[in-house]
Amino acid sequence: MSNFQITPIRYIKGEIELPPDKSIFHRALILSSLAQGKSKIKKIQRGEDCLSTLNNLKLMGVKIEEKKESLLVYGEGLRSLKEPPDILNCGNSATTMRLLAGVIAGQGFYSVLSGDEYLKKRPMKRITEPLRKMGAKVFGREDGQFPPLTLAGGRLRGIHYSSPIPSAQVKSCILLAGLFAEGDTSVTEPLQSRDHTERMLRYLGGDLEIDNLKVTVKEGSVLEGKKIFVPGDISGAAFFIAGAVILGGSELKIINVGLNPTRRGFLDILIRMGAEIEIISQKTKCEEEVGNLLIKGGSELEGIVIEKEIIPQLIDEIPVLAVVACFAQGETVIRGAKELRFKETDRIKAIVEGLRKMGANIEEKEDGMVIRGGKKLKGGECQSYGDHRIAMALTIAALGAKKKSKIIDVECINTSFPEFREILKNISV
Ligand code: S3P
Repeated sequence: MSNFQITPIRYIKGEIELPPDKSIFHRALILSSLAQGKSKIKKIQRGEDCLSTLNNLKLMGVKIEEKKESLLVYGEGLRSLKEPPDILNCGNSATTMRLLAGVIAGQGFYSVLSGDEYLKKRPMKRITEPLRKMGAKVFGREDGQFPPLTLAGGRLRGIHYSSPIPSAQVKSCILLAGLFAEGDTSVTEPLQSRDHTERMLRYLGGDLEIDNLKVTVKEGSVLEGKKIFVPGDISGAAFFIAGAVILGGSELKIINVGLNPTRRGFLDILIRMGAEIEIISQKTKCEEEVGNLLIKGGSELEGIVIEKEIIPQLIDEIPVLAVVACFAQGETVIRGAKELRFKETDRIKAIVEGLRKMGANIEEKEDGMVIRGGKKLKGGECQSYGDHRIAMALTIAALGAKKKSKIIDVECINTSFPEFREILKNISV
């Protein structure tokens, strides 16, 4: 197990470009595999999670070639996947498991989806239940609650599903299964979750209808291979943005980063807290907003109340947002974020424990946390609990602490962002 020993730094300075967005990259791989014709995905996401998706697609017969800085995917249409000769290993990645389950439900062959010790504890009823309603034969431990999942075909029919939770993975699973169903398939969410599946489907020619929080995929959509550009990962950028915001004297430029409105809640909240963040250019490429950011450190940050409505737009950034809140004056309250308890680890528990060990005044709540900031962190020894976002968030907290810190078990960072340490080293002063 490897650890980080972290010495505090003075500030962050430089210009960076992030690897492709993990969430969009999964969609790019899956949908180009289901498209007719060649797709070229420019730049490669090298995190283990996306590699799990890639390897599983290969195991189902998709031809994918790696070129210098791009992937060529030779899609042969919706029903071209083949029965895999082995278990589909999803590693740590719930996105891989939940999205592929939707695709495989419509394929009419037998397969088993499994993963690591963390993934095997993640809730799957949220997808097995609607898939069963569509007619899929899908099984899992404890009546479809936990992986491994087994799928054994079944003719799918379109349903209308009203999801009890705002979850892009659930929504995407059902929409992907909908590509294979008789009749239209729609999902309504209680709050808007990230919409990358909808955008990528539309970009590749899928027939979709969006009416506020209801998304419908029409029967008989056909996808067409294309050139795909995936913007830089805003969730990865969030760690460096947080570092720049809390350290006076910082100046960080981030180029070509994704600015999809369903993903940029973190930026909006930081700006409301008083951070100096400027969007210096923005355009739309392959249906996704992308732009450059300029972040300057040292402005007075103020605590804020973050309510459930915006949570899906910053769900993965909450651990690092809690770090920023430690450096803000007054109280920050995060509510309506119980979903964090079902991530790679219980992220509410893990970040509260980690930051408290570093000296923060932070209180755990059932659906969030309360942080009383303004007192410099002293630093300390804390655990990632095998969760990449906890490991990276605590690393950023340690940069702004008084003394050295140790973060235990940081290998998990490779699941999403193997370049994290190198980039951080290059911009640390
Ligand atoms: C993701 C959706 C979110 C997010 C996860 C990636 C996706 O999960 O936390 O990191 O790519 O669809 P939920 O759908 O469980 O909210």
